[in-house]
Formats: sequence, C-alpha cells, structure tokens
Amino acid sequence: MKQRAKLSVIGAGFVGSTCAHWAAAKELGNVVLLDINEGAAQGKALDLFEASPVEGFDSKITGTADYKDIADSDVIIVTAGLPRKPGMSRDDLLAKNAQIMTSVCKGIKEHAPDSIVIIVSNPLDAMAYVAKEVLGFPRERVIGMAGILDSARFKSFIAEELNVSVKDIQAFVLGGHGDTMVPMPRHCSVGGVPLMEMLSEQKIEALVERTRKGGAEIVGLLKTGSAYYAPSASAVAMAEAIIKDQKRILPCAAYLNGEYGVDGLFIGVLSQLGSTGLEKVVEVKLNDKEREGLNHSIKAVQTLIEKIKTMELS
Ligand code: NAI
Ligand code: 2OP
Repeated sequence: MKQRAKLSVIGAGFVGSTCAHWAAAKELGNVVLLDINEGAAQGKALDLFEASPVEGFDSKITGTADYKDIADSDVIIVTAGLPRKPGMSRDDLLAKNAQIMTSVCKGIKEHAPDSIVIIVSNPLDAMAYVAKEVLGFPRERVIGMAGILDSARFKSFIAEELNVSVKDIQAFVLGGHGDTMVPMPRHCSVGGVPLMEMLSEQKIEALVERTRKGGAEIVGLLKTGSAYYAPSASAVAMAEAIIKDQKRILPCAAYLNGEYGVDGLFIGVLSQLGSTGLEKVVEVKLNDKEREGLNHSIKAVQTLIEKIKTMELS
C-alpha cells in the first residue's frame, strides 16, 4: 500500500510554519518542520498536530533540528533565512542568506538526495542558484517560489478593482522576484475577457506598479518582517502540484537552459509541475515592451549572481 507523501519544511519561522499549516490542513502528507532553533520547530509542530483533531486532518507533524529526520522526503520547502525589515531590499539579504542556504542544502544533499526542493528564501532567484550549485540536483528538482505569489497579488488587485471573484482572474508575472518583475497584462483575462478591454491603460499600470511593490507594501505595514500567508500558500501550491502530479502550469523560478535566450540562471517563467518536479518550461511569445522588461529583470538577477560568485560560501 502506498505510504503518505513526506514534506519537509526547513525554517520554522513565519513562512515555514504557515507552509506546514496549509500542507497539513490539505493532508498533503506527513510534515517535518526543521529549524536551527529546535524548540520553535518542535513547539510549532506539536501545536499544529494538536489542531488536527479539531480540524479533522490526518497529517503527522514533527519538529526537529536534525537533518536525519528529513530522510526520504518527497518534497522539501526551504524558508530558512532572514526576512526583510522596512527600508531593506530583498538583495540586502544576499550574503547572510547565501551562507544559510549553503548549510541547509548540504543537509538536504546528505539526507534527502532524491527530494524535489522548492526554494523560498530571498533574494529568491539568487538563493535558488546557490541551492542548485550546492545540491548538484538536475533542474527538474530545484525550483524557486515567487511567481505564484506575485501573480496572486496581481490577481487580488484586479479582482478588487473590478469587484469580481478572484476565481475568475487569469494572470501571471514573469522575471525575477524583485522590483523588475514583469506582470503580463496582455495575457490577463477576467472570466475569459481580456483585461485590456475592461480597464484603462492607466488603471492597469497602477495595478502593475502595486504588484511590483507588493512585498514592500506588506513590509511597510508589518514593520518587523515580511509577508507569509500568501507566500506559504504559494509554496504549498507547488508542493501539491508535485505530490499529486497535477501537471499544473504555474509561474515559478526555473533554471533556464536556453529558454528566452538565458542559460544558467533562475528566472520566473511559466512552468509545468508534476511528480518529477519541473516537467516543462512553457515559453510565451513576447512583444517588444515585454521583452525589454524581461531583459531588464534578467540583468538584475545576473548582477546578484555575479556578487554570489565572488563570495566564499561554506
Ligand atoms: P522568519 O525569520 O520568520 O523565519 C526564518 C527562520 O529560518 C527562523 O525560524 C530561523 O531560525 C530559521 N533559520 C535561520 N538559519 C537557519 C538554518 N541555518 N537552518 C535552519 N533554519 C534556519 O522569516 P520568514 O518570514 O519565515 O521568511 C523566511 C524567508 O523567506 C526570508 O528570506 C524571506 O525574505 C523569504 N520570503 C520569500 C518570499 C518569496 O516570494 N520567495 C516571500 C516571503 C518570504
Ligand atoms: C514578498 O514578496 C518578502 O519576497 C517577499 O513578500
């Protein structure tokens, strides 16, 4: 008989513990929550497990600081790292989080070498690059989460503006997870009707701008950290697509092998996710403005990778 899937979440902070919450509530499998701060991981795991009789979900949730406990994980979500504070860009986190990512991925490589790894820590596209370098896994098994979150923000703002259900909005965002991200209004529809027929250019531009600054908007309000409900829901959507072999087409940071003319960088693109991880990159035809936006975003990611290459990571 097939066993339950095993999902490990590294980092039991705001994003990690909320990932565990969504995943357990959806009964995606048993969940291991690992943090350098063992008490926090164990305490949150036990608390969440004690919620299961109330909510009626059958998922075993355990907390640990020991990488041995992630052995045989099907999927691992990495959220370990510092979050942004007001006034900080995602890139300010680069050096510290690159060290954390290196040590986490060494633990994954040793104890769960067959897992599919979803990276969440920021700066996302650069951390996914560090992860892939340390893990040495094929691109199918190292995928970054950002596009689902950025697209969800874009969809929420459109739904609010038009006073329609979020369920009827189709939209996606390409490029790196930073201020240069590329929301794609030309490919956005509301109940099947092109967005560009429903809102003026100025209104759409305002929604695009709010999407680009969506992370900073939350940081400005929270003041002590960054968003976690929508980010964790987005990471768990990726885990669900993989665990259930859904073949979903979702915007994710994928390691490109020539797509969009890019080699060897993680960039947000439409990705098909199934049981083997990243199963396909779906390339979208771009007009001149979109191509220019994407090129600009690729350059921003490339600059971070150049910085990473000068760092001693151990
Ligand atoms: P947090 O500070 O609440 O949690 C981070 C956790 O990582 C802490 O519990 C800490 O003890 C743990 N940690 C630190 N070093 C570790 C190590 N070596 N091994 C294991 N655990 C370690 O931060 P939060 O809000 O959960 O954010 C986590 C990361 O996710 C941040 O880098 C943040 O910028 C990023 N993020 C990325 C998003 C995206 O769209 N890709 C969206 C939201 C957050
Ligand atoms: C966000 O977009 C901080 O990257 C995080 O909310």
